[in-house]
Amino acid sequence: MSIHQSNIKRVTTHQLQEMKNRGEKISMLTAYDYSMARILDGAGIDVLLVGDSASNVMAGNETTLPITLDQMIYHATSVVRAINRAFVVVDVPFGSYQGSSSEALKSAIRIMKESGAHGVKMEGGAEIRKSILRVLSAGVPVMGHLGLTPQSIYKFGTYTVRAKEEEEAEKLIEDAKCLEECGCFGIVLEKIPRELAKKVSKEVSIPTIGIGAGPDVDGQVLVVHDMLGITQEFKPRFLRQYADLSGIINGAVTEYIKDIKSGDFPSDKESY
Ligand code: KIV
Repeated sequence: MSIHQSNIKRVTTHQLQEMKNRGEKISMLTAYDYSMARILDGAGIDVLLVGDSASNVMAGNETTLPITLDQMIYHATSVVRAINRAFVVVDVPFGSYQGSSSEALKSAIRIMKESGAHGVKMEGGAEIRKSILRVLSAGVPVMGHLGLTPQSIYKFGTYTVRAKEEEEAEKLIEDAKCLEECGCFGIVLEKIPRELAKKVSKEVSIPTIGIGAGPDVDGQVLVVHDMLGITQEFKPRFLRQYADLSGIINGAVTEYIKDIKSGDFPSDKESY
């Protein structure tokens, strides 16, 4: 059934703004594939981010840098097929928008056209202003991303909290205002002090979505594999783990192997 035939109201950028205006927190999780996206959408998540963290959690890379535009489009297409309600935003991957504003526009249009997603996310502030404006001018909703921006990990050198010093904090506030002025529909704030995130969220009118940015933002995002306990070795302070799926999967698979070895599976009932 298409959205036009169903009664489900899709989440839009307008609704996200209204949520901020009335003080309702926005829920956001990453998704990279059809089956997981279907479960998350069915549970009522507001925004699904096809994050370039797919490079880490799906492909096993150390950083987000290797994932390609084609690979992001593949993940995004699978997620879009699954959803009835959530707003789907897709990371424009490293190397596909930093070159020029026309490169950014081309990449964003490919994502929107080929995957059917509803918006894109780009990391950076004033330095990518031109690219953001160009993408927005084509009618593509853009979400910003400030603070710890993993595509710049080799510039930072570590994944520690960003903008603890005044100079970097001031630049972050200026960047947030720049993204708002450009017309971005929201900003992800990653791993910054909670007081700074609170200040930014007060000073800009568009929704801020935090990850490791404390409670005084307009919404929260986590990497779904981390919050479900599928990834085992990544346990930063900001992460709340809501399930231990790796333990559950391990238990189920151990049982399955045991049943095969003992001849218990398949039974008569499970045979034709
Ligand atoms: O790629 C990603 O998962 C992200 C989130 C950490 C916000 O950008």
